[in-house]
Amino acid sequence: MAVTSRTQVGIVGAGPAGLLLSHLLTLAGIDSVLVENRSRAYCEARQRAGMLETGTVELLRSAGVGKRLDAEGIEHDGIYLQFAGERHNLNFRELTGGRTVTIYAQPEIVKDLIARRLADGGAVEFSASDVAVSGITEDRPLLSYTDESGVAHQVSCDVIAGCDGFHGICRPLIPDISVYERSYPFAWLGILADAAPATDELIYSRHEDGFALYSMRSHAVSRLYLQVPPGEPLENWPDDRIWAELNRRFKVNGSDWSVSEGRITDKSVTPMRSFVAAPMRHGRLFLAGDAAHIVPPTGAKGLNLALSDVVVLANALRAALAHADWDLADAYSDTCLDRVWRATHFSWWMTSMLHVNPEADGFDRQLIAQPAQIRDVIAGGGAFPGRELHRLQARPLRPVTALPRWPRPPAYRALEAVFSRLPPAAGDRRLSLVTRHRPLCFPAGPRPTGRWSPVPSLVARHKPPRSSVQAPAGPLAREGLAR
Ligand code: FAD
Ligand code: PHB
Repeated sequence: MAVTSRTQVGIVGAGPAGLLLSHLLTLAGIDSVLVENRSRAYCEARQRAGMLETGTVELLRSAGVGKRLDAEGIEHDGIYLQFAGERHNLNFRELTGGRTVTIYAQPEIVKDLIARRLADGGAVEFSASDVAVSGITEDRPLLSYTDESGVAHQVSCDVIAGCDGFHGICRPLIPDISVYERSYPFAWLGILADAAPATDELIYSRHEDGFALYSMRSHAVSRLYLQVPPGEPLENWPDDRIWAELNRRFKVNGSDWSVSEGRITDKSVTPMRSFVAAPMRHGRLFLAGDAAHIVPPTGAKGLNLALSDVVVLANALRAALAHADWDLADAYSDTCLDRVWRATHFSWWMTSMLHVNPEADGFDRQLIAQPAQIRDVIAGGGAFPGRELHRLQARPLRPVTALPRWPRPPAYRALEAVFSRLPPAAGDRRLSLVTRHRPLCFPAGPRPTGRWSPVPSLVARHKPPRSSVQAPAGPLAREGLAR
């Protein structure tokens, strides 16, 4: 006999999307039950993303889970792009009016979110089996599973959030779902090594033998990737071969710069794929993150996109479940897919430009990956088509919660203090001035009264927009990852 219970939102999957959703819902006063089929230890160890955009960092901070990220994350002003043995710096901070990227590994985000959910008494069930969802076109869909000790559960929900990644059970429940897919004729061999990175910022290198990426996890741990054929057996890549190949692909003309080597602690091969499923909602089932879309990691967009979905979904579910207003829920799929397609295009373009496609003919090679195009990106600081770097990373204002980490000048602090006391109406005006140190900007839009914390205002106090493609209002949505 199954144990029955009731919640507002049943969440499948304890990846970054599911965990952040359950946390944001709690902050918005909405109950959830989160069910994951892997163990907590497995979820906390799974190696994946490393690079976060400014919007993601701001989101995690403003949701109150950014303490360790602030202490341990490594902020970079930009990246290096390398081709034909030339290495060039692309400074995002200058190009985008202050946007940067931060290195903080996905397992760390997952650990932070799990710790917070458990500290808040959240219902998170790890190592569940037989996870199933039914009744998604009815008012009370059912989330069922068997817990670790073998007890069967049936949770009656208002809504189900499918945050169960690419191989999950939720997407197949949407009838007549359209799938748009591209598999690339290459994969990434990724390694983690106990070696201090030999670079201060990530290096994206296009070499005639294939792409290589130099990333990091800390000042003592490097993360590196090599383009390899799809399905490449790991046995083909003993450590010595990996280091030799990395050094070849990162070689800079006329320089003896080299990769710093160390003990390899993790090795894996990841296929490269673009995938978009639409719509992202059917009845009471909403998909978020990799459950609905995958981008090749070249553009470092997947986790950022997954968390953007979650902000839009948390806003929509609060409006629906706390205020019986389903407008944002109705707009959810279109709102997300608009950004998903732009990121899909960007990731496809970055991938095509930087990898060597063994199936490309001469025309493709000239069109997509000729050095002139990469030079344009560098010379134009992201001019067409690199302008996408601006469109996707640039946001005009930095919220107060995302002030720079170095000591702020007194005038800066004084202004901040005044600003935080302004009534909402005055705060609606955009304040932006340039200090000696850097542009000083405050967010436009309605501000909550009292201490500045965007999270309690997940949903705008105004009527939500009716247009199906407009991002929802609300500070988290606007200052997190929404356009
Ligand atoms: P997932 O992380 O896949 O989480 C889904 C969860 O659902 C998992 O815990 C899974 O176990 C669980 N689940 C699945 N099936 C079930 C079931 N039946 N029942 C219960 N639970 C289930 N993105 C970036 O933004 N920046 C980067 O630098 C970056 N680098 C990357 C590098 C690599 C090599 C890879 C592979 C990806 C990278 N990404 C990057 C992408 C990023 O890792 C993903 O987009 C992100 O994990 C998506 O999060 P998610 O929560 O949607 O899905
Ligand atoms: C990573 O650090 O794992 C990483 C960074 C940037 C990418 C992809 C992966 O584009």
